[in-house]
Amino acid sequence: MALKVQSRTDISAAVQAAVERHGTTAEALVPILSDVNRALGFLPQDAMTAISRSLRIPPSQVLSTASFYQMLSTRPRGKHVIKFCESAPCHVMGGRLVWKALQDALGLEPGQTSADGQWTLLTTSCPGVCGVGPVLIIDDEVHGNVTPEKVPEILAQYQEGGTSQ
Ligand code: FES
Repeated sequence: MALKVQSRTDISAAVQAAVERHGTTAEALVPILSDVNRALGFLPQDAMTAISRSLRIPPSQVLSTASFYQMLSTRPRGKHVIKFCESAPCHVMGGRLVWKALQDALGLEPGQTSADGQWTLLTTSCPGVCGVGPVLIIDDEVHGNVTPEKVPEILAQYQEGGTSQ
């Protein structure tokens, strides 16, 4: 699967819908970015420019806000987004070895998306399920008690023909 390219029409429609829903005050910036990110899968430059104009705030402020929140992305993300918990409790439960297995399996650094558009690899701070650490979250599904040996079988669930497609 190639990364999805958004048309200008898609972008305009997504921005317009978000602005109509949330208004044009400065407080609407994050909700609008969130809606557009959800609609398009990420925040293309053209979308951020349109939001900047609609809210009459500098493009640099839109970009810095979009870059600040991990739920938002200024680059296309893969079909499946993997978030690995990098907080200390998971780390001491063997997270470092799981992280290495994950990176080896995917060939990705944090923040990167695979060339086939299948995976984006991110790190996250504690999502609050430390009792089952080490933890990784794929899309919205939590995988706990992960070991390096389990990494390939977890990833396989999301490959074509897997149970989570
Ligand atoms: S430290 Fe990983 S879930 Fe809390």
